[in-house]
Amino acid sequence: MKLDIAVLSGDGIGPEVTAQAIKALDAVCHNFDHSFVFKEGLVGALAIEKTGNPLPDETLKLCVNTDAVLFGAIGSPKYDNNPEEKIRPEQGLLKLRKELDLFANIRPVKAYDSLIKKSPLKSEIIRGTDICVYRELTGGIYFGEKKLSDDGTLASDLCEYSKKEIERITHLAFKAAQKRRKKVTLIDKANVLESSRLWRKVVAAIAKEYKDVLLEFLFIDNAAMQMILNPKQFDVILTENMFGDIISDEASVIGGSIGLLPSASIGNTFCMFEPIHGSFPEATGKGIANPIAAILSAAMLLEHFELVEEAAAIRNAVEKALELNLSTPDLNPENPLTTEKVGDFIADYILNPEDSNINFENIHVGQSTII
Ligand code: IPM
Ligand code: MN
Repeated sequence: MKLDIAVLSGDGIGPEVTAQAIKALDAVCHNFDHSFVFKEGLVGALAIEKTGNPLPDETLKLCVNTDAVLFGAIGSPKYDNNPEEKIRPEQGLLKLRKELDLFANIRPVKAYDSLIKKSPLKSEIIRGTDICVYRELTGGIYFGEKKLSDDGTLASDLCEYSKKEIERITHLAFKAAQKRRKKVTLIDKANVLESSRLWRKVVAAIAKEYKDVLLEFLFIDNAAMQMILNPKQFDVILTENMFGDIISDEASVIGGSIGLLPSASIGNTFCMFEPIHGSFPEATGKGIANPIAAILSAAMLLEHFELVEEAAAIRNAVEKALELNLSTPDLNPENPLTTEKVGDFIADYILNPEDSNINFENIHVGQSTII
């Protein structure tokens, strides 16, 4: 298959982790005889510095004219620490999601057997957890009208949802549940918010078309608690933009590190693949950022184009790295590998999964030729 892929590696650790995802995709191309062409675009703080715009027109054009977008991370302390800044890096990502109409953000969360002991949560609570969050991505409080009074003492953000916006992601969530354990949990705050009550009404009506899928409702505050008490109860989580942002970061603790969680942002025309983590400015350039979320986002890209075997090749390599404890300091503080070395191992393993020259024993202590 031939694919043109826009690469928007963005700020902070974005470029480091995205480079590892590209290495994995190159290895896949080599093994499966595909041709992926990577085309870079500016976004975020760097784009503001160079063009004054967090999403330059040229970048948007690139994304519209390619088959998929591979996204790194966005955000910079310069803006985080200054609420007065009017132009902010995150606006680039939000505009991109909106312009490409990427209304469904799919975030799988899995407890890897080899990492269970590394989670701060008890093994018996998290073992076997397998959740897929369907987060609405182009509506809600993120995109509603924002107001600040002239004297700067009163502010508001509007949370608005239309029936249509709720319907389209709901169908995707139910279809996904049909292929999984056939349960959808709608997370909302319907005891307080009008927009949540509309979500319940619309989702309950659609559920009737999916008789094989069980629908449950949970308030977000209870859901946040249930995620820690008994995460195995969840299969597909369906939720609006802001609740999805929060619950997925919380759920990442189950996996052992936020550095593991990939996502796919899907619309009817375009698609983008991005790790759920942020730009982690403190780690920039230090080689300590976990590249696995970015690499697994590349696997989701492959799955989107129905390259199932290719995606499995990436997943196997990631699982091997985790099994052998070939990880960055978030997962392996005693004997960490750099971002690049983890990427090298994963790309190598994709190329040669059976290679007897790879001495797995020695990899642990950093003596193998491949690291
Ligand atoms: C995410 C991020 C973004 C979001 C930020 C960077 C705007 O936290 O993708 O989860 O809030 O959606
Ligand atoms: Mn987030």
